[in-house]
Amino acid sequence: MARWEKEKLVVDSTPSPITKKQLVHDLKAIGVQPGDILSVHSSMSKIGWVVGDQVTVIEALMEAVSERGTIVMQAHSTGNSDPRNWNFPPVPEKWWETIRREMPPFRPTITPLRNIGRVPELFRTMPGVLRSNHPQVSCTAWGKHAKRIVKVHDLTDSYGDKSPWGVLYRLGSKILLLGADHESNTALHYAESKIITPETPKQITGAAIIQGGERKWVSWEEVKYNSDDFKELGAAFEKSIGYEITKVGQADSRLLPMRELIDFAIDWILQNR
Ligand SMILES: CC(C)(COP(=O)(O)OP(=O)(O)OC[C@H]1O[C@@H](n2cnc3c(N)ncnc32)[C@H](O)[C@@H]1OP(=O)(O)O)[C@@H](O)C(=O)NCCC(=O)NCCS
Repeated sequence: MARWEKEKLVVDSTPSPITKKQLVHDLKAIGVQPGDILSVHSSMSKIGWVVGDQVTVIEALMEAVSERGTIVMQAHSTGNSDPRNWNFPPVPEKWWETIRREMPPFRPTITPLRNIGRVPELFRTMPGVLRSNHPQVSCTAWGKHAKRIVKVHDLTDSYGDKSPWGVLYRLGSKILLLGADHESNTALHYAESKIITPETPKQITGAAIIQGGERKWVSWEEVKYNSDDFKELGAAFEKSIGYEITKVGQADSRLLPMRELIDFAIDWILQNR
């Protein structure tokens, strides 16, 4: 399908254009407050046709939390990884060494995002937005707590306490799923990171980074994080607190407290996996 045909489907399903004013109104109605720390996952096409595209979505989020608030988005660049673990698509084994040798190193200012949407891709380039230093699963942040959130991102602790997720948990962040569902709810990996045992499946991964001013390919062992049951887990959490999905624009959306979600998720994973 051509790009414009996909956009036409969005136009055809939108009764009237979605404006920044409406988005700010809807964000307040779902519970966003000035000063909030929001970790956002989005699907812009689900919102309905937005006047001004992703610029409008981001500026509405910033207005809703105000200059006292903080916005965080994922900036995944998962293509910078060991090709031995690639499934979407896999590549021939005889390519692996070339890929490891030639992969450009992660650089926070230029490395583009992969499969995560237009909103975070623009967000990472906006004035005042900072990016954590992880070659595969970095976070971007704007606002009051941005510096603190992106400061530490340990290579071998993608989603754990030595990553932005530990800071977001401690600060009492809210998770906003804007047309996205729990499959994209990266915070749930933080719950997985809290219950690692010697039996937890692990794999060798790698990435090209800059170390000591030079490009290097580095390898490390990491937990095999798994989002296969996140939809089920998210639904169980929503049921437990009687949460009702709310529209932002036309998008089914959720605003959830991270601490409660993670504490629930830890117990749920221990009981259900
Ligand atoms: C993958 C994903 C981003 C796809 O959603 P999407 O709505 O198709 O894509 P985007 O959010 O990039 O929005 C762009 C689409 O909006 C539509 N669009 C174009 N102009 C638009 C406008 N003015 N208003 C609304 N939608 C518009 C187009 O269909 C466009 O598709 P295209 O980029 O292929 O042309 C989404 O399903 C998702 O998973 N989001 C969460 C990602 C995440 O945070 N993951 C965490 C790590 S697992």
